[in-house]
Amino acid sequence: MNLFDVYPLFDITIDRGEGAKVWDDKGEEYLDLYGGHAVISIGHSHPHYVEKITDQVKKLGFYSNSVKNPLQQEVADKLGKLSGYEDYQLFLINSGAEANENALKLASFYNKRTRVLAIEKAFHGRTSLAVEATNNPKIIAPVNANNHVTFLPINDLSAWEAEINKGDVCACIIECIQGVGGIRLVDKDFLYGIQKLCEAHNTVLICDEIQCGYGRSGKFFAHQHLGVKPDIITVAKGIGNGFPMGGVLISPKFKPVYGQLGTTFGGNHLACAAAIAVLDVMKDEQLVKNAAVVGEHLMKRLKEANLPHVADVRGRGLMIGIELDMPYKEVRSALLFKEHCFTGCSGTNVIRLLPPLCLTIEQADQFVEKFTKVLNDF
Ligand SMILES: Cc1ncc(COP(=O)(O)O)c(C=O)c1O
Repeated sequence: MNLFDVYPLFDITIDRGEGAKVWDDKGEEYLDLYGGHAVISIGHSHPHYVEKITDQVKKLGFYSNSVKNPLQQEVADKLGKLSGYEDYQLFLINSGAEANENALKLASFYNKRTRVLAIEKAFHGRTSLAVEATNNPKIIAPVNANNHVTFLPINDLSAWEAEINKGDVCACIIECIQGVGGIRLVDKDFLYGIQKLCEAHNTVLICDEIQCGYGRSGKFFAHQHLGVKPDIITVAKGIGNGFPMGGVLISPKFKPVYGQLGTTFGGNHLACAAAIAVLDVMKDEQLVKNAAVVGEHLMKRLKEANLPHVADVRGRGLMIGIELDMPYKEVRSALLFKEHCFTGCSGTNVIRLLPPLCLTIEQADQFVEKFTKVLNDF
């Protein structure tokens, strides 16, 4: 049987990782400024993570959501403390798209409406309503095109105000730092204005923190830079450091109803062991602070270097976009194949940096050296 060929692949097989480094099957070392697409939060193969998952699978990998699972409460307690959302409720699922589906369902159960507002260039996942709220017609199948979603410009409060004031908007879903959209940052006045409008019209404010959350921005959540408290927060990627998992953080104003939401695999024992290990390491090694410090250093160096072809450097913490005055394709390939450095990308011209949150200052400097070498050749 062939694999269904939907991914354009680099001809590299990664089979080992440690911290912010990975090795291929020939033993070649790579610096990882991509984190397997913003997934690796605490670093590859962290010993505490390996131990927690190993111990758990030896005892019990899975049982269903029909019995008590104290590990889920441990995740909720630790996440509540570290994120500052102890009064919120946690629903666990398996991926980012599933987190957004459930967030949007909850919002619609809550106010009985069906209209959603999202930002132009948004990415919220590839299923059902999550893909409808994703501003990319190429990945929306006819069955998903159901006219629920209006896309509006980023940071244009009056455009959003005009729609929310109609009184029929179920939810506004917002990435405070757009990932796929090219590291575009929501500003404080915009988000604050949307929160006030949502409050006034019983519209639900959802922050999609799947890529920009879990410490990546240098605060636990990216919206915490903007002083706003959303009604619902969605997380995935970094929550399990590679173990597939997602979560929905839900304000106390939503009352749970038996059977209204559910999942077979969500919050299983093994996933919870991974999530607990991640939260332990994030706390013990102060990785949110590290993301802030190393991220600031890296952005400063990239800006001060005045590198050829760099048109803009933007981001927060360890979520950085480098906009080039040319397509990124060959630059990214040279970084990977000549300099052994993984990076992400968005659109046609933006190199996207999403390293593990344990990246060191020395590794950040190594990246700047590699990047300088590559750009000087163009
Ligand atoms: C902001 C954002 N939301 C949602 C998703 C979807 O997550 P998943 O691929 O786990 O379904 C992604 C994935 O890249 C994302 O970046």
